[in-house]
Amino acid sequence: MTDMKTEGKTGSVPVFVERFNKHQKYQHLLMMISVGMLMFTGFAIKYGHSAYAVFVVGLFGGFRNLFNVHLTMAVLMIIAGAYHVLYLLFGWKYRGLSLAMVPNLKDLKDALQHARYLLGLSRERPRYDRYSYLEKFEYFAVFWGIPVIGISGATLWFPDIAARYMPLWVIDMMRIIHSNEALVCLFAIALGHVFWVHLNPGVFPTSPVWINGKISLAHMAEEHPEEYERLVKEYAAKGIKIGEPQHGLGRFTHSRPLMITELIAYLLIFGWLFWVFIPKLFA
Ligand code: HEM
Repeated sequence: MTDMKTEGKTGSVPVFVERFNKHQKYQHLLMMISVGMLMFTGFAIKYGHSAYAVFVVGLFGGFRNLFNVHLTMAVLMIIAGAYHVLYLLFGWKYRGLSLAMVPNLKDLKDALQHARYLLGLSRERPRYDRYSYLEKFEYFAVFWGIPVIGISGATLWFPDIAARYMPLWVIDMMRIIHSNEALVCLFAIALGHVFWVHLNPGVFPTSPVWINGKISLAHMAEEHPEEYERLVKEYAAKGIKIGEPQHGLGRFTHSRPLMITELIAYLLIFGWLFWVFIPKLFA
């Protein structure tokens, strides 16, 4: 079991446990700033004739500045990625290899059970361990996405050098790859990630993990029951009994107005996406 630093003890029972350590918080922050700014500036390049582009280019005081910000943020994103890889390697050397993030057969079973639960075919929610199949999927999407968007972006940044090693059609293809991967990234973050860590009624308006690195025991018991049970056993071995967490989840957890508003917003977004993209498939 990972080292669990605890805080905010009620008697001897922890209220919060550490989920992100300081390195993980810095990595998340660097990634958030760089990828956020890359999207903000990148889509102004992609949709250069739109009102959005006119607004964003105006904000930066001209296209050249905007493009330079895109390139600077690209470097920051690569630094964040390298920081994470070094962190993994050091962790492996000094703390041993953790396989908690590696997908396994249980994730497949959890995904199927989650689908059954969401379709109303089962009343049981999947019981996640430290990372759910969705969190693992998102992590590897980033792990895969950075080289894809980084290599394609670097090819476009240095076309003269790229042209020495690859034919023109590959460079053209890199532009399509860069552009489409950026779109996938936008949808994954805006629709998926933002829901799980902000709009999800259990954590609305935000999960505190990325800010203070902590998760409450109540939230852990709800979202990561297998990890929670392991923690309970660890404390029991030290002679400390953790019963049901005495504190509640977020105050919006059962808010029907919030759920209905979000459901309508998501239906509108999906309706709009289908309306825009489906006809293009047959064009
Ligand atoms: C190492 C990382 C990156 C580098 C080196 C990079 C570099 C570039 C360059 C040089 C261009 C101009 C392409 C051209 O000449 O048309 C560009 C365009 C663009 N970038 Fe990036 N970029 C990076 C990461 C990202 C990320 C993470 C996103 C968004 C998630 C993004 C979104 C875009 C978009 C949407 C465009 C416009 C593509 C188009 O014209 O269709 N970029 N990038």
